[in-house]
Amino acid sequence: TATAKIAPSMLSSDFANLASEAHRMCQCGADWLHMDIMGHFKVELGSIGHFVPNLTIGAPVIESLRKHTEIFMDCHLMVTNPLDYVEPLGKAGASGFTFHYEAAKDNWQELILKIKEKGMKPAVAVKPGTPVEEIYPLVESENPVEMVLVMTVEPGFGGQKFMPEMMDKVRTLRKKYPSLDIEVDGGLGISTIDTAASAGANCIVAGSSVFGAPEPAHVISSMRKSVEE
Ligand code: DX5
Ligand code: ZN
Repeated sequence: TATAKIAPSMLSSDFANLASEAHRMCQCGADWLHMDIMGHFKVELGSIGHFVPNLTIGAPVIESLRKHTEIFMDCHLMVTNPLDYVEPLGKAGASGFTFHYEAAKDNWQELILKIKEKGMKPAVAVKPGTPVEEIYPLVESENPVEMVLVMTVEPGFGGQKFMPEMMDKVRTLRKKYPSLDIEVDGGLGISTIDTAASAGANCIVAGSSVFGAPEPAHVISSMRKSVEE
């Protein structure tokens, strides 16, 4: 079965002190750092399309941070054109590359291959409105994704409320794929971890609950305990 990975979301960190925030999270017991990459704007037929209404970090920041830490950087791409980011993020030292299925319906096969070619762990994310059945082919393909991220908020911002109704997706995936890494992202913390862990999630992203806590180490260890139980 899948082991617990606790991934503080750096979106809630002090961006002006990213290296020290990363070190602090490592000392607090983080397995991964979750890096939210959002907001590539692509001009389509005169209108401006974007995946989420926010703008965060990109490959240059990952590259800078990589010089300060060897931890697994779990990159979550909330962009309309994930393929464009594979090469730059691979070069920058990203460890995991999670693209959104909604932005890769036509090219996920090529995307997974390129991600693997660059030595990163390929994963697919689904927004709350996307049925989980749609990503079965990505898990079952010859070159499969190695993790599925079930969004438990609408992507875009930290600090939103956990959507327990997404646990049906997690339960369905866990039943179908006993050893698959299943990640949840959005609103996870001490009060919601048991719901997510008992549904079968093993990779836990948590931003505001970790960075907002007086003792982040305590939040991380409690979440780990819940997943391992
Ligand atoms: C939201 C991001 C999350 C966010 C989670 O679009 O994908 O990773 O940082 O933040 P919390 O844990 O505060 O909901
Ligand atoms: Zn995220």
